[in-house]
Amino acid sequence: MSHQILILHGPNLNLLGARDPKHYGSGSLDELNQEVQILAEQLDAQVQSRQSNLEGELITWLQQASADFDGVVFNPGGYSHTSVAIRDAIAAISIPVVEVHLSHVDSREDFRKQAIIAPVCIGRVSGFGRTSYLLGLRAVLDYLSRVTPTEEPGSP
Ligand code: DQA
Repeated sequence: MSHQILILHGPNLNLLGARDPKHYGSGSLDELNQEVQILAEQLDAQVQSRQSNLEGELITWLQQASADFDGVVFNPGGYSHTSVAIRDAIAAISIPVVEVHLSHVDSREDFRKQAIIAPVCIGRVSGFGRTSYLLGLRAVLDYLSRVTPTEEPGSP
């Protein structure tokens, strides 16, 4: 059984390619999603990507995620450093969430060192550009394979 993973992009990530390429690279969000999709196929996983600039919409998607997905790879953007409400939503759901960042947030401004959401995630990948998402996908699938080992066909 292949795992279903939600790839969630927070505020301003729709501007990838145009926004601050020194930190976020020159590729678009569509290109990033395609790269994630290719890896998902190689790893026999199903992914669906969504982006929102709205805190409430991200919270609603997280609350609903357990019904349709086995795990989440989430770049909360600026909300990573501010949102108690998103943190509470992740703490309230039972599926694993991996936080990812394109830039190396701990090497940037002090306010980005505030990690409100990371403690309720199973882990965090930061600083590897688009590869952060690929590592995040590998990490959540690896986690799922350990906690819910796929049953062999015909096993009791
Ligand atoms: C980001 C880092 C955040 O600090 C910033 O607000 C973003 C993007 C990243 O992917 O590096 O919007 O999450």
